[in-house]
Amino acid sequence: MTVPEFQRRKQEGKKIAVVTAYDALFTRIIEEAGIEAILVGDSLGVVVQGKKNTLSVTMEEMLYHTKLVARAAQRALVIADLPFLSYHVSVEEAVRNGGRLLQAGAAAVKLEGGAAVRDRVEAMTRFGIPVMGHLGMTPQSVNRFGGYKVQAKDQELAEALVTDAKALQTAGVFAIVLEAIPASLAKTVTQSLAVPTIGIGAGPDCDGQVLVLYDLLGLFDDFVPKFVKPYGHLKADALQALRRYQEEVEHGKFPSDSESYH
Ligand code: KIV
Repeated sequence: MTVPEFQRRKQEGKKIAVVTAYDALFTRIIEEAGIEAILVGDSLGVVVQGKKNTLSVTMEEMLYHTKLVARAAQRALVIADLPFLSYHVSVEEAVRNGGRLLQAGAAAVKLEGGAAVRDRVEAMTRFGIPVMGHLGMTPQSVNRFGGYKVQAKDQELAEALVTDAKALQTAGVFAIVLEAIPASLAKTVTQSLAVPTIGIGAGPDCDGQVLVLYDLLGLFDDFVPKFVKPYGHLKADALQALRRYQEEVEHGKFPSDSESYH
């Protein structure tokens, strides 16, 4: 999947499924399932590193995980998150860090924010770095929001979000993630943009959906937002397997003759 193909899906009326990945093993499984776009999300700070939020994820960490995913990906579009503080200070830093993620193997980058990051988006796209936007409940602003809460619920904030989405499109983004906003607002944004919207907690009318892999698989249950649908029960499966292993070792049942060399 290329960036232009990703964009064409909107005109073709075909929904796009995106999922996060942080390593080579799951990237191969995701591709085997036929999913065509992978986000190396800074959500790795929470689900892989066990942190409270994404704010301390570094560029070096994003580069490392992007390399793991990009090395394994054969067909999927790999999009990598620009972490907190990697694009905030200056346009120059945004271009440099966006370029580093492309050198690590990503085909595109994602950043959070609206009109405030317009100049970053313009500069990166001008220099060949495709950019995905991210509006609504942007996790890097969790302290400003006072927690992970649904955003743009009143008329004024909803209008501001539509303005931000249009500003991002004019600046050159190829798609926009809409996170935790009312479904009706996501529908309005989707209908008013030429570029695809990818929803997470933004209802069914976005052009595509994205979920954090470990949420989707039922592997991460520290905090399960309303918008998560666990399609698997991998934590329960892992617990069952590990408990059986422990029991069999304790009772001398593992290894048996068939797992032994003769
Ligand atoms: O970091 C991430 O995984 C994300 C998605 C939740 C959109 O930004």
